[in-house]
Amino acid sequence: MVILFAHIIRLSLVLQLSSISAHKNFSQPDFVGIGSLSFLCLIDMKKSHVVVSLLLVLLFHEGEVSAVRTQDGSEAWGYVQVRPKAHMFWWYYRSPNRIEDPQKPWPIILWLQGGPGASGVGIGNFQEVGPLDEFLKPRNSTWLQKADLLFVDHPVGTGYSFVEDTTLFVKTDVEAATDGTTLLIEVFNKNETLQKSPLYIVAESYGGKFAVTLALSALNAIQAGKLKLNLGGVALGDSWISPEDFTSSWGPLLKDVSRLDNNGLQKSDSLALQIKQQIAAGKMSEATDTWSALEGLISHYSNNVDFYNFLLDSDEDPLSLTAASVELKQEISLKRYSRYLQTLRSTPGGEADLDKLMNGPIKKKLKIIPQNLTWGEQSNQVFAALQGDFMSPRISEVDELLAKGVNVSIYNGQLDLICATKGTNAWVEKLKWDGITNFLNTDRTPLYCGGEKSTKGFTKSYRNLHFYWILKAGHFVPAEQPCVALSMIGNITQSPVASSKQIAGGCAFGREMGLRIT
Ligand SMILES: *[C@@H]1O[C@H](CO)[C@@H](O)[C@H](O)[C@H]1NC(C)=O
Ligand SMILES: *[C@@H]1O[C@H](CO)[C@@H](O)[C@H](O)[C@H]1NC(C)=O
Ligand SMILES: *[C@@H]1O[C@H](CO)[C@@H](O)[C@H](O)[C@H]1NC(C)=O
Ligand SMILES: *[C@@H]1O[C@H](CO)[C@@H](O)[C@H](O)[C@H]1NC(C)=O
Ligand SMILES: *[C@@H]1O[C@H](CO)[C@@H](O)[C@H](O)[C@H]1NC(C)=O
Ligand SMILES: *[C@@H]1O[C@H](CO)[C@@H](O)[C@H](O)[C@H]1NC(C)=O
Repeated sequence: MVILFAHIIRLSLVLQLSSISAHKNFSQPDFVGIGSLSFLCLIDMKKSHVVVSLLLVLLFHEGEVSAVRTQDGSEAWGYVQVRPKAHMFWWYYRSPNRIEDPQKPWPIILWLQGGPGASGVGIGNFQEVGPLDEFLKPRNSTWLQKADLLFVDHPVGTGYSFVEDTTLFVKTDVEAATDGTTLLIEVFNKNETLQKSPLYIVAESYGGKFAVTLALSALNAIQAGKLKLNLGGVALGDSWISPEDFTSSWGPLLKDVSRLDNNGLQKSDSLALQIKQQIAAGKMSEATDTWSALEGLISHYSNNVDFYNFLLDSDEDPLSLTAASVELKQEISLKRYSRYLQTLRSTPGGEADLDKLMNGPIKKKLKIIPQNLTWGEQSNQVFAALQGDFMSPRISEVDELLAKGVNVSIYNGQLDLICATKGTNAWVEKLKWDGITNFLNTDRTPLYCGGEKSTKGFTKSYRNLHFYWILKAGHFVPAEQPCVALSMIGNITQSPVASSKQIAGGCAFGREMGLRIT
């Protein structure tokens, strides 16, 4: 295995992107974000005399730029060739709140998006938890307040990650975990500061299956002395850990909330049973097809319920769902995924378009994305390659992590359908971990946020298993309930930034972020 960073020649300060002055005005936005920052923080901006670091440090490997770091170290990104001709893209943000205190280690969050094939660098970063939203305005609820953030387009073929040969897409979660571990070795082994930080693998949706396999693979590499990293824990947000339990939950849940009648329930239960039998027989690819058919059937009988929030309608035409081929149905359900997040955008000021952003200003900023690569929110090729592993459960991997003493946190949005809380409760009850009975018998604590009186959720913990029930959120918890999600992630990562400090975010924090992105 080639350790890329070992061969890096640091050509310092080769790229001057703008004239530098200790009293520079924010008048010439060479980079993304500045215009929007002045929108929010105009008065502060004019007053401040800011040292702007517009320099990038390019890190070379074998004549090609493999990584870039901003001169102040607040951001870095790069490609790791995880296998010959398979390139994985990562983007790291250092928190402006980071402290170096051995008593209170500063956490790093590795965000794993779902799909499989959905881009964490795009969706998780700009639509959910990163420092800027897709209008490039500061996100006051960014998780960067509590931890450093590492976004990865995982597995290869997703977002800015790419393969030079289509046979190189991963076919299993375990293959993805091997690539992910190679990436962690490249990013962490050369930086002692990062090694001292506990890494929390935080996942959404299909990312949960990746997260538990990656955590186990990383622990093996750590034990073998190949990876220098301190694993803090795993957090599974609305995660597809047990496909059988989710597909079985859909019918009964929708019937109870009036979205299906008995007729629809019987038909969906019959497909759910078929899925269960296919999984038991190891017919995983067939189970994926049945999953797709079940989504179509439920869309039809529910008059198009939104799989990411069962109180809403999806804006798809139900007829096209039932008529289309299996492949098309999959594409439709994937498209639905991205549209749902778009509907959450509340910022006025016109249409934001993640495709345009990622293929325009962001690609320009990053410098190292191949010219002919087009960023896509969801790679159907990545999804298709994983068709044979999409429906396999990862409950035993959760058990293994629990038995090893790793902190496992689960959080679920109340209104999610695709990874419904009903299904999550069902697979949690199947855990063989010796603390499960006590966990199930433990009472919950209500959660509040932002000085509001209404209940935002519930939590409970027993030993190293933690569960957060988040009310009034669907599949995308951080985007739908940002206040309680931020408090939660601070607690999960044991962030030195106290729970109450989040309120101090807002404009001042946004300004700091703006400096960071230049
Ligand atoms: C900043 O801009 C203002 C108004 O445009 C100008 O008067 C001032 O000289 C500028 N300052 C610097 C340091 O360029
Ligand atoms: C290591 O990580 C720290 C924390 O983000 C950063 O400040 C520093 O620049 C990094 N060092 C190198 C050599 O990349
Ligand atoms: C992009 O260009 C490289 C050579 O510069 C080539 O190897 C690769 O196949 C191209 N990729 C696409 C998607 O066209
Ligand atoms: C797990 O989290 C708890 C706090 O919730 C902490 O006290 C404990 O040290 C953590 N354990 C590990 C192994 O990180
Ligand atoms: C986080 O921890 C603080 C302090 O224990 C508590 O007040 C708050 O409710 C917790 N928030 C969440 C979402 O767990
Ligand atoms: C963050 O922004 C939202 C809307 O943009 C606002 O409702 C909320 O109060 C803000 N929170 C903080 C902590 O500033």
